[in-house]
Amino acid sequence: MTIAHFTDWHQLPDSRWQHALARAAEHAIQRNRLDERAKGRTLGMVFFNPSLRTRASMELAAMELGARVIALTPGQGTWSFEWRDGAVMDGSFVEHVRDAFGVLSGYVDAIGVRVFAAQRFYEEDRDEAVFQALTRAASVPLINLESAFWHPCQALADALALKQVLGDDLSGRRFVLHWGYHPKALPMAVPNSAVTMAARLGMDVTVLRPEGFALDPGVMKMANELAQKSGGRVQESADRQVVDGAEVIYAKAWGGALSYLNPTAEAAAREAHKSWRIGAREMNRGSDPYLMHCLPVRRNVEVDDAALDAPRSLTQRQALNRLHAQKAILEQVWEL
Ligand code: CP
Repeated sequence: MTIAHFTDWHQLPDSRWQHALARAAEHAIQRNRLDERAKGRTLGMVFFNPSLRTRASMELAAMELGARVIALTPGQGTWSFEWRDGAVMDGSFVEHVRDAFGVLSGYVDAIGVRVFAAQRFYEEDRDEAVFQALTRAASVPLINLESAFWHPCQALADALALKQVLGDDLSGRRFVLHWGYHPKALPMAVPNSAVTMAARLGMDVTVLRPEGFALDPGVMKMANELAQKSGGRVQESADRQVVDGAEVIYAKAWGGALSYLNPTAEAAAREAHKSWRIGAREMNRGSDPYLMHCLPVRRNVEVDDAALDAPRSLTQRQALNRLHAQKAILEQVWEL
């Protein structure tokens, strides 16, 4: 039997995205309405990496639909997991995901999984090797709560935030995905999801990043194809002047392919771009843009207090929308 895992939006028909977005908007209006359609079901959650928003909002989303929740953190109160097929487990990993996710599948009706990019081998992360191994191990649907390359729950919440402030028709609205400095080379799941999300909505999208920090060519190709279908546009630039006229600045740090190939060179290139901090200069260029960021954010390193705390900052709205978006996703996964 094929299991309908929820890995990312690009693996689903556009109708599923449109329907989820509409349902998320309804949940935003009906906040706190008691709902028992998922009564008797259990959501498992496995967090290989830390979380505040995803963990709290997913747990609440499931509970507000009437489900129970079991949340596990591998290595902290749970065995640490090996995922590679054929691994000789004579090191620190105690249990294979094939056993662990097989067992969990017997207890629960879906498993939300957070497993970030390992940032060792580019192809391994691009091809979602770990998440794919988990899908093979589970016999209930997995829900991607941020994997190596994608964060579909964030994308849906962000799309809802854009519609809430700019209106339903986002055609041609100027969206700048703005690279920001960060002391670490962060993974690309959020920028990948943000650029494809905005392209899908028909926006006029610019990925603004320094030389050496381009997003994956396959992701950009996907974003361009989505833009062609939606009537939007996607371009890349290293010229910081492109924030002029932006209606939305989505701030995000990422390391890029160089962080895999040559971490020393990547670190040096990143340090050279410390001035790529989103602050008053970016937010006061005449177009009065909205600021987006998925959080957590390094204040006054990646984005300034003045931008994060300004009335047009959408960060709190984005985080609240995670609850509405994930209810819509659970409805699809469980066919409620
Ligand atoms: N944006 C986001 O996924 O937040 P957490 O890492 O806190 O879950």
